[in-house]
Amino acid sequence: MTKNDNTFKKGLEGVVFDTTTISKTIPEKKSLYYRGYNVAELCDNCSFEQVAYLLLNKDLPNDSELKEFIETEKAHREIPIELLNSIKLYPKDAHPMDAVRTAISFLGMQSEFLNSDDNYLGSIKLLAKMPTIVAACSRIKKGLEPIAPNKDLSLSENFFKMCLDKIPDKEIVNAFDGSLILYAEHGFNASTFVARSTVSTLSDLCAGITSAIGTLKGPLHGGANEAVMHMLKEVESSSGPEAWLMDALKNKKKIMGFGHRIYRLGDSRVPRMTKYRDKLAELTNNKDLIELSNKLEETMVAQKGIYPNLDYPAGPSYYMMGFEIELFTPIFVMARTAGWCAHILEQLANNRLVRPTSKYIGEEERSV
Ligand SMILES: CC(C)(COP(=O)(O)OP(=O)(O)OC[C@H]1O[C@@H](n2cnc3c(N)ncnc32)[C@H](O)[C@@H]1OP(=O)(O)O)[C@@H](O)C(=O)NCCC(=O)NCCS
Repeated sequence: MTKNDNTFKKGLEGVVFDTTTISKTIPEKKSLYYRGYNVAELCDNCSFEQVAYLLLNKDLPNDSELKEFIETEKAHREIPIELLNSIKLYPKDAHPMDAVRTAISFLGMQSEFLNSDDNYLGSIKLLAKMPTIVAACSRIKKGLEPIAPNKDLSLSENFFKMCLDKIPDKEIVNAFDGSLILYAEHGFNASTFVARSTVSTLSDLCAGITSAIGTLKGPLHGGANEAVMHMLKEVESSSGPEAWLMDALKNKKKIMGFGHRIYRLGDSRVPRMTKYRDKLAELTNNKDLIELSNKLEETMVAQKGIYPNLDYPAGPSYYMMGFEIELFTPIFVMARTAGWCAHILEQLANNRLVRPTSKYIGEEERSV
């Protein structure tokens, strides 16, 4: 290998590793399509359950397909008592992302997953159980009793009930459901790549999702929605967003919720999420937070020409819905489970072991 060749791409930027029919981004048009449908249109016309079906099945469901899908999802919301008891033993200061990752790893050892190679049914089971697990991790950590899932409620309503013991106004539930649609899928991002790589070894579904959760946790990926809220709180108690930002940039800080590997002109999902965020601010009397957030964004765009990503409006939205900050990334997990599972099914349908190579720049051969 010569010293000056161009044989590697740091961070795999621009590397096409496989084909997919699940989603497509058109960065120059700032748009995102799930199986050919514009995601903004899906937000305006569909529920998260319909979109999860679309991702797993290639098409939107008709009425009877949707009914059957929802019945199956509702039938699998309960989690085994052994899992619930194990969550009670997790360290109380553990981050819920670590708790959820451990819970999915535990679930993979339960007989209903161990003894089944039906990954489509397994995917619906994971979609159904993930909100129950996230809510249980949250309540147990807070010293509260977990609330059992309720089959009379939609996935989003049920999550609010299991987490906060109340279901908010329809518009708030709608904003939450829309956020799940926006978070559900996004191509070969880091966690999806890892999920596909894991199952490419013919490891199992829960192993793929466990790896993906571990990958999503980092603040350069899913963890950014939490980091955004911590940042906005810091800005709130500073001398103002412009001064705070100038100082942060001077100190070479990464501004959370800004920038994206794929979108350099702006994130396709931001306009819909910002609409939800602004509605939530109106409903919950939080207009000051939005003013501060808008000022920070204006200054960042003017100074660096770097635009917000989905996590920027999503962080404060979950905050205004009443969730604790460390639950924001686990909520992202609930949504992205749909995309991860779709990718795992696609990978296994036409599998080849994922095994990239590296450019060696270490010592040449030498004697001991
Ligand atoms: C998402 C992210 C990891 C993309 O990384 P990437 O594709 O490797 O981007 P690059 O590091 O090539 O960025 C290009 C330039 O913009 C700068 N930049 C990118 N995002 C930035 C941010 N959020 N704050 C400050 N500067 C940023 C980089 O420092 C780099 O500047 P340089 O050329 O002077 O070194 C990066 O934008 C980031 O860290 N954002 C904050 C975390 C975040 O919101 N993550 C969620 C992503 S959905």
